[in-house]
Amino acid sequence: MKKSIGMKLFIGITCFVVIIVSLSWILNTKYLEKYYIKKKSDNLIQYGEEIKSVYNKDIDDMDLAFMKIENQIGADITIFSKNGQIQYSSIFNEQKIGMGNGKMGRNVHLMKEDLEKIFNGERILKTYQHPRVEAKFLVLSFLLKNDNVLVLETSVASITESVEIAKDFYIYIGIISLILGAIVAFFYSRRFTKPIIELNNVAKSMAKLDFSQKYDVKTDDEIGELGKTINDLSEQLNRKIIELNEANERLKEDIEKEKKIDAMRKEFISSVSHELKTPISLIQGYAEGLKDNIVTDEENKNFYCDVITDETAKMEKLVKGLLELSQIESRSVKLENKIFNIGSLVEQIVNKYKPILKDKNINLIIDHDDKELKVKADISKIEQVLVNFINNAINHIDENGKLKISLKNDQEKIRVGVCNTGSNIPKEEMDRIWESFYKIDKSRAREYGGTGLGLSIVKGILELHNNDFGILNRDEGVEFWFELNKI
Ligand SMILES: Nc1ncnc2c1ncn2[C@@H]1O[C@H](COP(=O)(O)OP(=O)(O)O)[C@@H](O)[C@H]1O
Ligand SMILES: [Mg+2]
Repeated sequence: MKKSIGMKLFIGITCFVVIIVSLSWILNTKYLEKYYIKKKSDNLIQYGEEIKSVYNKDIDDMDLAFMKIENQIGADITIFSKNGQIQYSSIFNEQKIGMGNGKMGRNVHLMKEDLEKIFNGERILKTYQHPRVEAKFLVLSFLLKNDNVLVLETSVASITESVEIAKDFYIYIGIISLILGAIVAFFYSRRFTKPIIELNNVAKSMAKLDFSQKYDVKTDDEIGELGKTINDLSEQLNRKIIELNEANERLKEDIEKEKKIDAMRKEFISSVSHELKTPISLIQGYAEGLKDNIVTDEENKNFYCDVITDETAKMEKLVKGLLELSQIESRSVKLENKIFNIGSLVEQIVNKYKPILKDKNINLIIDHDDKELKVKADISKIEQVLVNFINNAINHIDENGKLKISLKNDQEKIRVGVCNTGSNIPKEEMDRIWESFYKIDKSRAREYGGTGLGLSIVKGILELHNNDFGILNRDEGVEFWFELNKI
């Protein structure tokens, strides 16, 4: 199992409490009694010195002075002379002290060898365990003046007892401290680890790239500081990753665009070569025919020359168209926007078509909203658009022969529509016919000399103008429309 910091802290603090409590208990049981005895001995020595000084002063009321000391220290005082005569005793009333088998009376626990030492001027300080009475005594004895011996005795039974009680009591204190310590350790470790767990959760969601989680900074300490840093880090990472994603998207788009452009370029080149192939081989064939003098009569020679001129004209038309398209698509042409009347422009253009229309038996209708339809655009380019639409309409018109040009005054725009009767354009072709070289019916386009560039030039022009345009299939035919900006 994984050990959490909380658990470690809890165990650590609890162990610490256990060690402290055990140490105190050991010190207590081992040294408390010794310490008590040492203290008591010190006290005895101190009082012994006091008694000595009182005794040496020859105070009249010696008994009173001794009694005072006796009360303070709780020890028995005995003074006897060299021959065993009691000089003062706080316990005996007899005047003589018994020294049977080397031991002095009931309460004076001195041995013969002790006495010898005392008379030699040594100080005796000892504990004495009474063999019959279950008691222990602390005995201090030394020589006063005139060979009198002072004996101070105190029972250490009370001390031992106190120590025993203290030991017992200490077990309870130990248990209580342990429980209290464990509780404190538990709450303390939880309080300590809670923010760390929260921080870890924030970091975990960051690892999953979720930057919505934030650490709630509550403290001013290192953990609070770390929380702030992690929040900052999260924000910065989030920003950088968003930026990176955006850059990546752009890169992908660029690559896609590049690929498309590349494909378009290839297709364009193949289309151009394809378009040029037919006229070139025709011209080549007919020119060689002329050179080899295959035809001898004038009429046939003229026909050969006509074919060559025709095909050359087609090539010229194609090259002109390509040039124009490349200019428009590279956006190198500048629009010369002018205000003009679109109605008049349409009128002007259709006037030029009158002979052809008459020739082809086409019925032209012009549908004006009103006479004054002022627009702002590049007039020559718009003329090109109209010419392309009208040419296409004438090229695709059916036997009904109806051509309608409508000019509608919308709210912000003028809508121009060129409508001819004929077959509808299939939905799937509607986008493609704006591409260069695209023709729905190739042989028909060859008949009327179509290059397939007209609508792509129109598209380029109208995009330069930022104007909308499109195709609509009508009941009787198709309508090509575009919009112009009103002034
Ligand atoms: N009014 C129309 N009705 C039907 N099809 C049309 C019409 N105008 C254009 N198209 C289709 O769109 C193609 C592209 O037109 P365009 O770019 O002008 O080339 P082109 O006129 O040289 O063929 C035409 O080949 C034709 O198939
Ligand atoms: Mg055309």
